[in-house]
Amino acid sequence: MAKATTAYVCQECGGSTAQWAGKCPSCGAWNTLVEEVTGGRGPDAKPRGGKATSLEPLDADVPDAPRISSRIGELDRVAGGGLVPGSAILVGGDPGIGKSTLLLQAAAKLASAGHKTIYFSGEEATAQVRLRAKRLGVASAPVGLAAETSLANILKTLGDKKNAPDLVIIDSIQTLWSDLLESAPGTVAQVRACSQALVRHAKRSGSALILVGHVTKDGQIAGPKVVEHMVDTVLYFEGDGAHQYRILRAVKNRFGPADEIGVFEMRGDGLQEVANPSELFLGDRDTVSSGAAVFAGMEGTRPVLVEMQALVAPSPLGTPRRAVVGWDSSRLAMILAVLEARCGLVLGTHDVYLNVAGGLKITDPAADLAVAAALVSSFSGAALDPGNIFFGEVSLSGGVRPVGHMASRLKEAEKLGFASASVPAKLGSDAKESGLQLEYVAHLSELTDKLMPQGQS
Ligand SMILES: Nc1ncnc2c1ncn2[C@@H]1O[C@H](COP(=O)(O)OP(=O)(O)OP(=O)(O)O)[C@@H](O)[C@H]1O
Ligand SMILES: [Mg+2]
Ligand SMILES: [Zn+2]
Repeated sequence: MAKATTAYVCQECGGSTAQWAGKCPSCGAWNTLVEEVTGGRGPDAKPRGGKATSLEPLDADVPDAPRISSRIGELDRVAGGGLVPGSAILVGGDPGIGKSTLLLQAAAKLASAGHKTIYFSGEEATAQVRLRAKRLGVASAPVGLAAETSLANILKTLGDKKNAPDLVIIDSIQTLWSDLLESAPGTVAQVRACSQALVRHAKRSGSALILVGHVTKDGQIAGPKVVEHMVDTVLYFEGDGAHQYRILRAVKNRFGPADEIGVFEMRGDGLQEVANPSELFLGDRDTVSSGAAVFAGMEGTRPVLVEMQALVAPSPLGTPRRAVVGWDSSRLAMILAVLEARCGLVLGTHDVYLNVAGGLKITDPAADLAVAAALVSSFSGAALDPGNIFFGEVSLSGGVRPVGHMASRLKEAEKLGFASASVPAKLGSDAKESGLQLEYVAHLSELTDKLMPQGQS
């Protein structure tokens, strides 16, 4: 076999050089040269050997992907119903958010249930991991633990198909290095090469593989985007310093719906699953002040109730401030414009602040109506009925449009003791059977007319 050689290949133009340089000699782009392993035979060599693959029809009998339950319900939910043998999951998240904690807990549960589980820690010494295991109360679980960063040693340890473990955890992919490359661990070339080798091993041996990935300042998993393509599932572990809860969010999943979330609470003894997130997000609600509206949202396949909080106040500035936490700022600008142009509210001289309580990030367009209600309530100074929830998408004309999953949104609100709901006028028949008292809103002006004292708008 030809000896592996490496070259620096430009990610822009594909030109290659033998030595690294800041600037690509072919196209002049900066910082685009990445070390890659190249065979000794050159790119134009004819393929040798090879045999024709047999082709199969699409409708051949295939069993459903078998699943191993991680025994952590919220993790299974996000993974699409459990871990799939032979698949690879990338878990990204900010430093200190709890990635190692979550995976150590999952490893311990799986190992205790009789699955062979190996945890490679590249970041912490085994003593540190053991200390964490003790704090989490899982030290007795038969997890195979090693502090290892060499790809070759890891692959050797994993062995072949016969004795392959059921679950392999790599914490983290940025610490691994392959001796085929000269670049340092954590570089694009190393991260890519190591991920590729591990994913290939998982596919071949049938182990489920979980890679931990660091997240850069702008929220990307550090390393090449290609790692996200290589794996079957990409999960982000989110949360903020001010809150104890953490959200595990699927952003890509070949074995289940994306956008699914799992909710955990970080405690001294580890991450606890939160079975009913709405209760958590509505926990410390201040029901008497103006500017708060409860939104019945959907996160993946699960309804989640959150409070949208708005503050509208006269601005001392020529250009009033608009600040948003947890929602899209251009969406807020649109709602404000609709309130001005279609409902006659004069907000142009007011500062507007919008916050999603609890630090949740909402992308569901159905939040429009709840946001509008919160804004109008703050503007008028009158509190909304605390037993009422809102959902509905607002169009540029001010019309309130129906959204998905209306029946489950209402059911969740009913379960949590809400009495009434402001909903789009075109409600599906399944949603009409809800026990809540429904107020149909066909146009946003109906809401503002009701909430604004006469003559103020
Ligand atoms: N004794 C403790 N009591 C309560 N919470 C703790 C305790 N020790 C650690 N934690 C929590 O665990 C978090 C660290 O978790 P963990 O090490 O799993 O994060 P990580 O995402 O793996 O971080 P890194 O990016 O550094 O690897 C801390 O931020 C803290 O919230
Ligand atoms: Mg860690
Ligand atoms: Zn180039």
